[in-house]
Amino acid sequence: MPSRQWAAHIQDEVLPQATAGVELGADLLELGPGPGAATDWLRHRVRRLVVVEQEEEAAARLADRYAGTNVEVACGDAAALGNPGLGYPDASFDTVVTCTMLHHVPTRAAQDQVLAEAFRVLRPGGVFLGSDSLPSDGLHHFHVGDTYNPVEPAAFLTRLQTVGFAAITLRVGPNLIFTARKESAPSLTVTPTSGSCGKLPPEDQPRR
Ligand SMILES: C[S@@+](CC[C@H](N)C(=O)[O-])C[C@H]1O[C@@H](n2cnc3c(N)ncnc32)[C@H](O)[C@@H]1O
Repeated sequence: MPSRQWAAHIQDEVLPQATAGVELGADLLELGPGPGAATDWLRHRVRRLVVVEQEEEAAARLADRYAGTNVEVACGDAAALGNPGLGYPDASFDTVVTCTMLHHVPTRAAQDQVLAEAFRVLRPGGVFLGSDSLPSDGLHHFHVGDTYNPVEPAAFLTRLQTVGFAAITLRVGPNLIFTARKESAPSLTVTPTSGSCGKLPPEDQPRR
């Protein structure tokens, strides 16, 4: 179980901000649930909540706790959501959430793979959202002997864009809170104008 103080932080401060104005939809995927502070809050807001946790013991504890509920617990790597044992297809979730997890992913390449997988499994129009701790000496000391690879907010914006996300919001306060949308395919419209900018190139002119 998460400590009461940590659960209150995630449930009363982080998630209400991160989800404000977001339609969560029916199917939500949470990556790196750990002891389940976010899981407890999210599961009451969707029809189906899938959580992917890589530590076997943590996943087993969650599976016990949520047996018979709308939470499905899977043990595996968030950077490989299509692997055997997970096998989540493209466009299978309305929302993907990750809280305080990315800085536990040891390399930037692996973090980018998590972002790419979040994008892949989202339905068009779906949202990837969450939070993470900002780089600090205090956080560094807290993680002695543990993985510590915090994301740098300005670079995070570009990294989200690179895997395909748009309409990105980043809030940098005591921590980083983000939302990023997988846009539906844009429709192409050509608006004629009087200047050459609005004219079709010769090969695209309608035949008379
Ligand atoms: C600090 S805990 C955060 C727990 C919870 N999300 C919260 O905010 O309270 C980070 C969790 O992410 C998990 N994790 C780290 N890398 C992961 C990966 N590649 N795939 C799945 N889970 C991962 C860790 O095992 C750990 O349980």
